[in-house]
Amino acid sequence: MTEPNIIEATNPLRELSPQDLRAHAAEALTRARARSVALTDAVDDEDLTRQHSKLMSPLVWDLAHIGSQEELWLVRDVGGREPLRPDIDDLYDAFQHARADRPELPLLGPAEARRYVGQVREKAFDVLEKAPLEGRRLTELGFAFGMITQHEQQHDETMLATHQLRKGDPVLHAPAPPARRAGSLPPEVFVPAGPFLMGTSAEPWALDNERPAHEVHVDAYYLDTTPVTNGAYAEFVDSGGYRQPRWWSEAGWAYLTAHDITAPRFWRREQDGWWRTRFGVYERVPADQPVVHVSFHEAEAYAAWAGKRLPTEREWEKAARFDPATGQSRRYPWGNEEPTPEHANLGQRHLSPAAAGAYPAGASPLGAHQLIGDVWEWTSTDFHGYPGFGAFPYREYSEVFFGPDYKVLRGGSFGTDAAAIRGTFRNWDYPIRRQIFSGFRCARDADGRA
Ligand code: AVJ
Ligand code: FE
Repeated sequence: MTEPNIIEATNPLRELSPQDLRAHAAEALTRARARSVALTDAVDDEDLTRQHSKLMSPLVWDLAHIGSQEELWLVRDVGGREPLRPDIDDLYDAFQHARADRPELPLLGPAEARRYVGQVREKAFDVLEKAPLEGRRLTELGFAFGMITQHEQQHDETMLATHQLRKGDPVLHAPAPPARRAGSLPPEVFVPAGPFLMGTSAEPWALDNERPAHEVHVDAYYLDTTPVTNGAYAEFVDSGGYRQPRWWSEAGWAYLTAHDITAPRFWRREQDGWWRTRFGVYERVPADQPVVHVSFHEAEAYAAWAGKRLPTEREWEKAARFDPATGQSRRYPWGNEEPTPEHANLGQRHLSPAAAGAYPAGASPLGAHQLIGDVWEWTSTDFHGYPGFGAFPYREYSEVFFGPDYKVLRGGSFGTDAAAIRGTFRNWDYPIRRQIFSGFRCARDADGRA
């Protein structure tokens, strides 16, 4: 790894006094909990304990698992306190039981789970008040509290995906996302060749797989200005794309035919066009919004049909963070300030992606829109550690997933909270998965080769 000669933006948490840092961490934890409560209070006890899809846990498992991780890291490890419930560690260890098997476990019921997470939180707040925020890597600049906040927000997004799979009347409500606000946009942006500082060594709450910052070279390429929209994707579907093996990888075609997949998940063809189910609402598929609920295989096939390809992970991050005026890597496409509702569609503020062009204030210096929020974007890159990677604080967060089985997704979705996304954040999943809020944009080499 070359020592970076270009610098990373600094993080505002480094400027806070210990008391302000504690207040910031407490607020982040409280916001996450309000969301977990809203997602679980929206349905009755029967619904909380039911499995809505083999791909997902019962909601009541996610809730108690959130508490269990918080107990493990904040109460026991950081706080050095006695375990509250050592008897349930195994039930909520994600590596002990597959999602499909979790409904059969002797799980805490809804009332018990609520009581448990409340008790853990009380202790965690006590630890937050008293624990030194320095002297130990786990607590440096409040890392463990940031990690547990992100863990809860990640499970909140997972619970939101469970809600999307749930049958029945709508129980979640939110205002419609903003309409397009940008004027006319070029279809693609040019990303110049040259070095770029990828990953981070400066973000105090960045997770192990985002570290360390390292210089990479990226060839010049073109990236779609916005994610691929439903309207564009429907052209691929309607032209017979799902019946033509030439657009698909071998693995993609095998998956398509084995599962009789003919369109993005939750789409249905009616006499008058495509309709979809979205959190219990049946509606016409909006042509101007980014396509969501597509697998990596579907994204890759569309890109081939369009004469393009998916971006690599480093290409994506360069488009999102590189500022050609300074050579610096930004925290977010729009700069170094935390996301506001003007920058990006995040945090379940809306229950769908927003129209392409809805967030001009969130554009990157190179002119790419909506890299953060709306839909997770598939990249062509397998999930691996960066040069110099070290698992921290546990191998099971990232390292055990490194390898060819998982593809990296970037940028977060409308269901991702601002606390759990940044320009360096890396998500990963199997290339067949599409119950997540996944979309994509296309890229092509600058010399014209697809
Ligand atoms: C980073 C979203 C792939 O949900 O499987 C939650 C996050 N890790 N609990 C996942 C996670 C442990 C993870 N993803
Ligand atoms: Fe988890």
